[in-house]
Amino acid sequence: MTVLVTGGAGYIGTHTLVELIAAKKSVLVLDNYCNSSVKSLLKVTEITGVKIPVIEGDINDKECLNNIFTQHDIESVIHFAGLKAVGESCEQPLKYYQNNVAGTLTLCEVMGKYNCKKIVFSSSATVYGDPTTVPITESFPLSTTNPYGASKLMVENILRDLYQSDNSWNIAILRYFNPVGAHQSGLIGEDPNDIPNNLMPFITQVAVGKREFLSVFGDDYDTKDGSGVRDYIHVVDLAKGHLKALGKLEKNIGCVEYNLGTGSGVSVLEMVSAFESVNGQKVPYKITDRRPGDIACCFAQTDFAENELNWKAEKSLSDMMADAWNWQKNNPNGYE
Ligand code: NAD
Ligand code: UFG
Repeated sequence: MTVLVTGGAGYIGTHTLVELIAAKKSVLVLDNYCNSSVKSLLKVTEITGVKIPVIEGDINDKECLNNIFTQHDIESVIHFAGLKAVGESCEQPLKYYQNNVAGTLTLCEVMGKYNCKKIVFSSSATVYGDPTTVPITESFPLSTTNPYGASKLMVENILRDLYQSDNSWNIAILRYFNPVGAHQSGLIGEDPNDIPNNLMPFITQVAVGKREFLSVFGDDYDTKDGSGVRDYIHVVDLAKGHLKALGKLEKNIGCVEYNLGTGSGVSVLEMVSAFESVNGQKVPYKITDRRPGDIACCFAQTDFAENELNWKAEKSLSDMMADAWNWQKNNPNGYE
């Protein structure tokens, strides 16, 4: 019995493969390498000692999916494959809806055909839009502000409808807060194309000398120090959450949403000073205008995942900083 990991060559996928293999699961990766390369999977092999079976293909390709399900005994799917750049999604919305929404429809259709009805889906805290209060519980109202977020919310709704139509599905919708950091080995980590959109890789690229300074997008928010507050979670903790969710699917849970975060809000300026003090590296920064579409503050209420999945983020902000830097300084050009 095998777990199909779509998007397994990506940032969160590679870290989850390490945990799946540690738990003695048999895995098969499906990835079209549109935002990754086979090199990341070779590094997973270096960490685990296990060669990762991989099919280069697209979740939109029904024939490819049919072949996978005919040739392998797939018992469940962890579905990471998706495009994730908010700005790009505003410029090319159709690409995002085709890849993230239509691709997931095709995947679910083929899964159903082969009676494989267990799926863990990568959603995002972006489905909470601009929350009126924090911490955010799973029952908060859902809304989105960009096509990327809309694609995640559409897939969530599709999965809820799918379960309503057929109660033999078991679906875990994982709403990630802000994944950062890297595996302790420094062999795998986040490898953004081009200029990073996200804070953590931007900080590490400034520290390694690839960028001159960090732009802090606004210091006039209604937060502790005026900069934006987020719930940063170590990617290894997040990866472990997937294993717990997979285990939970065995217990006929139906379709359930879980917040995966730490429950703590950290500001941009706190991130910079934590990085500097943990790693002894300066991160020059300038305060600039707010980034359009950003919210002031977002962090999770994590009790539900703690109680239901028996999972809790364990790594500290210092671990996130040390591991992100270890990855960046050992691999200044990512997997290149
Ligand atoms: P990533 O880009 O590193 O990994 C995604 C992987 O999916 C890549 O290897 C890419 O090549 C592959 N892929 C994309 N479209 C595909 C397709 N049509 N067919 C086959 N493979 C395809 O991203 P990540 O950070 O690992 O994110 C994984 C998932 O988690 C995504 O769905 C993302 O939207 C979601 N998510 C990420 C974050 C974050 O901050 N990283 C936050 C919330 C949710
Ligand atoms: N920030 C800066 N400078 C930068 C980058 C970010 O000051 O160069 C700030 C942002 O303004 C924000 C914080 O750092 O206050 C975090 O920004 P990120 O871009 O790292 O993360 P976001 O919370 O804005 O977005 C992330 C994902 C989205 C997802 C969202 C909600 O990138 O895909 O979380 O889950 F939709």
